[in-house]
Amino acid sequence: MNHKILILSLATAAGIAVCSCGQHDSEVSSPDGKITFECGNKDGGLFYSVSDGGRQIVAPSRLGFVLEGNDTVADFEILDRVRSTGDVTWETSWGESREVRDNYNGMTVEMRQLGGKEMLVNLEVRVYDDGFGYRYVFPSQGDSLVIMEELTEFALAGPAEAWAMNNHDVYYEDYYKRKPIAALDTVHTPVTVEFGGDKYLAIHEANLTDYPKMQLIGVDSVTMKARLVPWSTGVAAYVTTPFATPWRTMIIGDTPGELVTSYMMLNLNEPCAVADASWCKPMKYIGVWWEMHLGNGTWYYGPNHGANTAHVKEYIDFAAEHGIPGVLVEGWNVGWEGDWPANQHFDFTKPYPDFDIKEITDYAREKGVTLVGHHETAAWTTNYENQLDSAFAFYTDHGVNNVKTGYVNLLMDGKEDHSSQYGVRHYRKVIEAAARHNVNIDNHEPVMPTGLQRTWPNLMTQEGVRGQEHNAWDTDGGNPPEHTVLMPFTRGLAGPMDYTFGTFNFDNPVYPGTRVRTTLAKELALYVVIYSPMQMASDTPANYAAQPAAFQFIKDVPVDWETTIVPDAVIGDYVVTVRQDRNSPDWYLGAITDEQPRELDVKLDFLEPGAEYTAQIYADAPDADWESNPTAYTVSEQTVKSTDTLPLKLAAGGGTAIRFVKK
Ligand code: NOJ
Repeated sequence: MNHKILILSLATAAGIAVCSCGQHDSEVSSPDGKITFECGNKDGGLFYSVSDGGRQIVAPSRLGFVLEGNDTVADFEILDRVRSTGDVTWETSWGESREVRDNYNGMTVEMRQLGGKEMLVNLEVRVYDDGFGYRYVFPSQGDSLVIMEELTEFALAGPAEAWAMNNHDVYYEDYYKRKPIAALDTVHTPVTVEFGGDKYLAIHEANLTDYPKMQLIGVDSVTMKARLVPWSTGVAAYVTTPFATPWRTMIIGDTPGELVTSYMMLNLNEPCAVADASWCKPMKYIGVWWEMHLGNGTWYYGPNHGANTAHVKEYIDFAAEHGIPGVLVEGWNVGWEGDWPANQHFDFTKPYPDFDIKEITDYAREKGVTLVGHHETAAWTTNYENQLDSAFAFYTDHGVNNVKTGYVNLLMDGKEDHSSQYGVRHYRKVIEAAARHNVNIDNHEPVMPTGLQRTWPNLMTQEGVRGQEHNAWDTDGGNPPEHTVLMPFTRGLAGPMDYTFGTFNFDNPVYPGTRVRTTLAKELALYVVIYSPMQMASDTPANYAAQPAAFQFIKDVPVDWETTIVPDAVIGDYVVTVRQDRNSPDWYLGAITDEQPRELDVKLDFLEPGAEYTAQIYADAPDADWESNPTAYTVSEQTVKSTDTLPLKLAAGGGTAIRFVKK
């Protein structure tokens, strides 16, 4: 008998003995009354289902766990239900919206396991107008638990297709593919579903704390079952009660755009833990970076070393001249020699001899620029943790309080998955240590974000995406145009993304065949479409200096937003995003398309009624094309108001970026 069947039979056997609890079915509805979450015992197990406007969206789906020793915790006596409601509006430290309304109806179902150790388990549920979340809470039982498996399911009320990424890439740097549910092998969340032709669902999790990341496995044409990324021991999680798992979440929207502008995940994280977060400031940065990915310079010390004092000063000069606050420098410290992912020698306080950190940071300070530091750990996490405090202090002593971290290695410490409880614990340790030193983090090769930036606003942004660097050297030639029009509705739903766009030069003689598969205007539009509070202008100063008109948009575009709207989108085809600057009355628009050219009419009804704006429009030139003519763009201006409709013409693989300046 295989493991899965065994669990099912045990649950059923336990249920037959005691299943009188069907009468205790419990339900809770969203504040607008449309979404209803219902749970109860059925056939010897605990199930939940969800309806929206009276129509079932989630069919009865199993809940529960398997603990060490095959102890199935799935059949319960319901002891009580405690109702709650919440309606507060809070202000984000930074983000896509200044204000977030946290308005839900909640229910905590208090239960005792039938059979086994008779454990106490609560199912805590919150239902919002835009979705729901639930989590398991183990009240204090003086006990350590060894969790082998979660039985959690998401069974849709009908067959559907989902966009998801296979779990084979531990860094989440793969493509999102659309597949029938049954064909989802093991996939990372977010998983985005088009349901019944008129609903969009996104399954993910919120507040991933001291627990493994959840993945999903397609079991049949409607059912996805949770898989927890295990330790090398095979155990999913070691927990001590009291303990709460992350929230399992589903956003429910009528349009793809409603998925993007749902802030439910943030609401399901804890409020800010940093007493004064005024130092957690969004910023733009350039860096000694793209040239090395293009093969024109090295991270390691040698004749072509990128991070040398004179060269870094050139970047600082350029940043100062153009009002870009940050300069990232990679390859500055000892440890990059030879096969660097294989060694554990990264030293985070020892610069290479040609990188004079004092001279550089003094120079930067005089010019009003700050360095963005870099800690590549090669995922040797113990080596990093041993140096964590001295590593951050070394930077802050030099006035550097933004650090990019990296984990290039398939396993952490040669053993554990990035997404395992081991990895999750490590990343949190880094964020908390960084917060003690007032350091903001841009985490590359992370565990998938789950909204922790609400609690730790120094967790500014993360990679976990097949970003721009793949366009420099990937053997498949680079991310196809479709990739970027999937991102906002998949990876983007998990949180800020350090994709690093801004390429103005599309040829790379060092790795022929690779290229950035967009037009230049689309590179600009991506700054509005893809959200990150730290946005890189990834190309070189020389390439920006050659295109001053287009570079103006990168200089202008904000990194912190008052509000965000996605007025028009078809997942995987195109998207139009508009955002208002948090620090001025200006609005910005980004429209991007896949490989199909497109004409779109955008209503400007988001602008302030009665006001006039100058629209500065960065568009594809009539003959632009991502493949044959990517750099052809136009810049034009026109006066517009909220009652206007603006026609946009996007080239194949192209886009439009607009700044609306209030007159
Ligand atoms: C991969 C990161 O994504 C990239 O940004 C960085 O330059 C390299 N690792 C080296 O740390």
